[in-house]
Formats: sequence, structure tokens, C-alpha cells
Amino acid sequence: MKKLLALLMAMAMMLSLAACGSSSSSSSSSTEESSTESTATEESTAAEESSSSEDSSSEESSSGGGQLIGISMPTKSLERWNRDGEYLKEQFEAMGYEVEIAYADNSTEQQNNDIANLIADGVEILIIAAVDGDTLSQTLADAADAGIPVIAYDRLIMNTDAVAYYVSFDNYQVGVLQAEFVIEQLGLDLNDTSTSYNIEFVAGPTSDNNAGYFFNGAMDTLQDYIDAGILVIQSGKTTFEQCATEGWSTDTALENMQNTLASYYSDGTQLDVVLASNDSTALGVAQALSSDYAGSNDVILTGQDGDVANLANIVDGLQTMTVYKNVSDEAGVTLVLAEAILNGESPDEGLLDSLSVDAAYDIESYDNGNGIVPSYLLVPWTVTVDNLQDLADTGLYEWDGDYLVAVE
Ligand code: BGC
Repeated sequence: MKKLLALLMAMAMMLSLAACGSSSSSSSSSTEESSTESTATEESTAAEESSSSEDSSSEESSSGGGQLIGISMPTKSLERWNRDGEYLKEQFEAMGYEVEIAYADNSTEQQNNDIANLIADGVEILIIAAVDGDTLSQTLADAADAGIPVIAYDRLIMNTDAVAYYVSFDNYQVGVLQAEFVIEQLGLDLNDTSTSYNIEFVAGPTSDNNAGYFFNGAMDTLQDYIDAGILVIQSGKTTFEQCATEGWSTDTALENMQNTLASYYSDGTQLDVVLASNDSTALGVAQALSSDYAGSNDVILTGQDGDVANLANIVDGLQTMTVYKNVSDEAGVTLVLAEAILNGESPDEGLLDSLSVDAAYDIESYDNGNGIVPSYLLVPWTVTVDNLQDLADTGLYEWDGDYLVAVE
């Protein structure tokens, strides 16, 4: 935690615009219980988060001047959102803002209530990672009426004109990276149809606008190999809807993969690849492969996020890769964007110059049904057992014996 704070302090100094307030405090509301999709590791992260007093604050020079920032996160039961929430809170507080953060227990009703409370508490800006991008229109109309700008964080919020900006990673590229990894691992060549490999897909839920981008990025990249018969989907589950996993649940992914193995692979058919869209689902797939797969080959298994349980699985050979998204950087970009908005600016491509990380400004890809939402998209990268040290080099993870753990 010390290292992280030092890093944040340095960032805060660099980003400091006008020093017009030096003290900050924070409040935090967090009502959710851990839910069933979580792993032991994720639960302990969640427990730590909910029991912490969250009174850290920076006395460094800052531009926030005590303005209140409202953050609505989807759930504590998946590792990444705990980290996102923590990084956002720490980075905003380091700049002198006050932060109110709520976790919605993956419930759309709870998230609408959380946002209504944040509006009632007088937040100056809302940063929202939606549980379900389709369910917030009414509440966000209230935010618009109150003149509160909204940043959609990581997941696009649909069917509302209240969203000013979107900050995320290049979601389509996440799927491309997973697919390219598979092509490379298997040494696939469209001119060589002599060998075929069996692949299954595990996607996220239809309620998460990102999930379709991940799936399409992967499927589009592999489609030619599927059409050529080089990759074969024995289950016949080829559409996003057929592969979707409600709530990104580890347990559901486990159950679905057990069923797939029982129906299509129990006769000795070899499964070569499971293209799982993210780490929470990959965790369930890895369990199913350990307990229910009859074959003896190493099944290539993809993921996304770099959750510590999955990083351990990569070390242990139970998962082959993950697409890493540095969510501390995602929080940092959100901070720079929010500051510009609060300063009365209308950020555009020029904001990229103020960022300390690589990102793209995209005004084409993300239409939320009400029009294009200008987007700042960070760059994901592939992590395998061979470059885990790169994660340690970010300063966000450290080695504990053979395994990486998050720096507390
Ligand atoms: C995020 C992923 C995450 C998934 C489940 C998606 O919206 O972009 O990083 O794995 O939600 O939490």
C-alpha cells in the first residue's frame, strides 16, 4: 500500500493543476454481501474492503478543493472492481477530492438506489461501472436534471443522453489478443487443413455491453479458421448468446463447462482450447477441466484481467494466458478526464497529451443507442507464464514465493 500511495502521490504532483484546496476526507457506503460467483481470494479482498475505515487522505497540493465525487461500482464479488474502486478513491483523494463510493452487489435495483443517493448527497460528477448498461436511464435523467456529468467507467451505459464520456480499454482488442494467442500457440495456418483442433467459447453476459465486444473480437479473428475446418466447435455453441455466462459467474462457467464436457468430450474427443472471455469464467472452466475432463492434454485456456487467483493458475499451468488491463491506469485516465470536466472544459483528443499512459480517443465505436459516446480507450496486453515479471514491474503486484500477489 505504501508503494502504491507513493506512486499516487507522484502522479498527483504531476497532474496537479491549480492548488486550491489541501485537505480531504472521504465517506464510503458499502452495503453489499459477497455473492456466490466469488472465489475465496475474491471474498477476502471484498471483506477487507468493506471492513476498512477508508479514512486515508492526502495532504499534498491538490486541485479538488473538497469537491464530492460519486462512484458507483457493480460488485465486490469480482476482484477487479474492488481494485478499481480502491484506485479511483485513492487517486481522487490524493488530488483533494472527497469520494463517496457504493457497490451494488450486482443488483440493478441497488445500483439505481446507490446513484440516487449519490445525487441526493450532492456529488459534482458521477463515475459509474454499470451492473446492466440498460437499466440506468431513468436515474441518469435525474442526474442530468441536477446538472451532474456522468462518466461511464469500463462498461458503456446504454440508452441515455446523460453519459458525457466513456473510459475503458479497447474491448474488441481484448478478444483479438485472446484469439491471436490461440492461433500462435497452435501454430495455425489457413493453408494447412491437415489437422483440426476442438475449441469452445465462454462469454460474458448479454447485460454487459463489453461482453459482445470481447466475444466478437475473438470470433472475428478465428472465423476463417473455423470456416476452413481447422477449428471445430463440437458443442455447436457459436453465437454470443449461446456462450453467454450470467453475471460473469465462476460457478455458472464451471457448471456450463461440466455439461459441455459431459455432452461432447466424455467419449475421448480431445478438447484443445477454451476461449474464456475473462478470468472469473476461466476460473470455473479450469475447475471443470481439472475435475471432469477425461483427456490428458493441456487445454489452452484464455482469460482477461489478471486476477490473482488466475495468475496463480497461470503459474500452475491451469490457465495459459490472460489479457491484462491495468485498472490503476484506467482510474488515472478517469481522474484526468473528470478534472477537465469539472474545470468546465470539453475534453477531446487533446486530453491524450495530459495522460501518462497510452490511450486512444475514439468517436466512432461506442454508440449507446442515443448516439456516439466519446471514449478514451486504454491498451490491454497479453500475459503468460513467460512475462509475469512485467506485472510485478508495474508496482501493483509483488512476488510471494512462486506467485504474484497484489501490493496492499
Ligand atoms: C470488464 C472485465 C471483467 C468483467 C467481469 C467487464 O465489463 O471489462 O474486465 O472481467 O466485466 O467483471
